[in-house]
Amino acid sequence: MKKLAPLLLLILFSCSSTKNVIDKNNVDPWNYSITKNLVAQKGAVVSAHPLASAVGVAILKKGGNAVDAAIATQLALAVVYPGAGNIGGGGFMVARLANGETLALDYREMAPSSSSRDMYLDANGNVVQGKSINGHLSSGVPGSIAGMFASMKYAKLSFKELIQPAIDLAEKGFAISEREASSLNSIQQDLQKYNTQPSAFLNSKGWKAGDTLVQKDLANTLKLIRDNGEAGFYKGKTAELIVEEMKRGGGIITLDDLKNYQVKWRTPHSFDYHGYTIVSMPMPSSGGILLHQMLKMLEDKPLSSYGFLSPQAVQLMTEVERRAFADRAEYMGDADFYKVPEAQLTNESYLKKRMNDYQPGIAGNSTQIKPGVLPMKESEQTTHLSVLDAEGNAVSVTTTLNNSYGSKTVIGGAGFFINDEMDDFSVKPGVPNLYGAVGGEANAIAPGKRMLSSMTPTLVLKDGKPFIVVGTPGGTTIPTSVFQTIVNIIDFGMSADDAVNKPKFHHQWLPDQIDVERSFPEATRIALQKMGYTIKERGSIGRTEVIKKIPGDGMEAVADKRGDDAAAGY
Ligand code: DON
Repeated sequence: MKKLAPLLLLILFSCSSTKNVIDKNNVDPWNYSITKNLVAQKGAVVSAHPLASAVGVAILKKGGNAVDAAIATQLALAVVYPGAGNIGGGGFMVARLANGETLALDYREMAPSSSSRDMYLDANGNVVQGKSINGHLSSGVPGSIAGMFASMKYAKLSFKELIQPAIDLAEKGFAISEREASSLNSIQQDLQKYNTQPSAFLNSKGWKAGDTLVQKDLANTLKLIRDNGEAGFYKGKTAELIVEEMKRGGGIITLDDLKNYQVKWRTPHSFDYHGYTIVSMPMPSSGGILLHQMLKMLEDKPLSSYGFLSPQAVQLMTEVERRAFADRAEYMGDADFYKVPEAQLTNESYLKKRMNDYQPGIAGNSTQIKPGVLPMKESEQTTHLSVLDAEGNAVSVTTTLNNSYGSKTVIGGAGFFINDEMDDFSVKPGVPNLYGAVGGEANAIAPGKRMLSSMTPTLVLKDGKPFIVVGTPGGTTIPTSVFQTIVNIIDFGMSADDAVNKPKFHHQWLPDQIDVERSFPEATRIALQKMGYTIKERGSIGRTEVIKKIPGDGMEAVADKRGDDAAAGY
């Protein structure tokens, strides 16, 4: 194994915040640095890992478009960012093509055919702790590979070219960062508990920065996909390995479930905000509708005059977040299975009325503020990547295993983590999931149904052209982080860098509290407490990746400071 001295690695992993471009996009798995912010002329990729961003830009330079780059970046993330990058999970892509067409691709996991509403409850009807989160039974049928193949319709290069960098990274290995080493160390016990087969991630001596992670099984799986297309995952050897793994650990995914997995092309959820067009993900993600509700509830309020992170601004934004999340709990779920009243939830007069009981200076209360009464019908792991290319194709992809390293189960012999996405269903009405979200009938488990998501891959268009490409991981904090990033740029006039990196906060109706990052200003915290809010400090919120067009030809690419996230461009 090739190893770097820790000191050298510190230097290599040192962050650069250099503006103006920079071509540090060569893909050297043992010698890479993290660029947080750059200005690119032709194209840029921002993702959770510098090697994955570099792979994306290499594909752009080779003549690929933003869709090619997004596919190659996702595949590379499945290798270099195993906690969330994946082939064993699912995701969403929102895109705006250079010809003006907008797309929303749903490759969310599906509940296995023998899943059932109460599958995570004991004989007394109580939730069995952890059953929907860890181990084989927590997995939905993965959609990522089907999603990548579906998006090939808009790609220019061959899939073989797009997957090769990932194969090389898996086969030859790459140097892991300090953050990845400590993250892998934190799951060693879980790996023992939820696996019977050896995997590349086990290390009895403990991982350290600079160690090389080689993933031979994963490389072989990726080669099967390269050589056999989608069938290299959903049929044949890989499918058999998945089903054998399920049988070893009490999982229920079958060969038929894999064979029957289907992506869905959806109509993007679009709306206007202060003259910009927002294009985001529809059901089964709550993201687009929540973003729509939150932005519209404050569009007629003098938010910018309150000032960024002022008590008035945070209160107003908290109250719109509260109301949107109350509606999420009651009304949202997979619209293929449950009639989600999308038009009513985003009806302008409904949203105006929703704010009638908003009282400036006085905290709202989630026992009184319930899901809205709708008008009559009118006729912590996920990862995000943003790509913008020279032709004006913009791609926003959020993909997930759900929790960090998903179910913590590695498919024996196939080398990849499988998701624990089933926990995103409401396993019992009113019982909070991993992210504290509650739900009911709309998001109950049913065979073939997709679990409600919060992932919000989003584009903001100005005069119909891409202006911002944005998204983030973070469970239920995703829609609020995207909301705040957009508001920071449009209403508070911030640079993309500040919009991403300044403190974030979050309210999701229940629990009735404002979560704030450590760096949230003390004076605002105290003022909000005086209004009656409960403030809860927490770790970082999201890892937002933004590309923002700047006047002229360029684009600013910003990777969140909260992780190893990196921008690359040329
Ligand atoms: O789809 C969802 O909403 C969740 N499974 C996302 C999980 C997530 O963002 C974890 N990241 N920190």
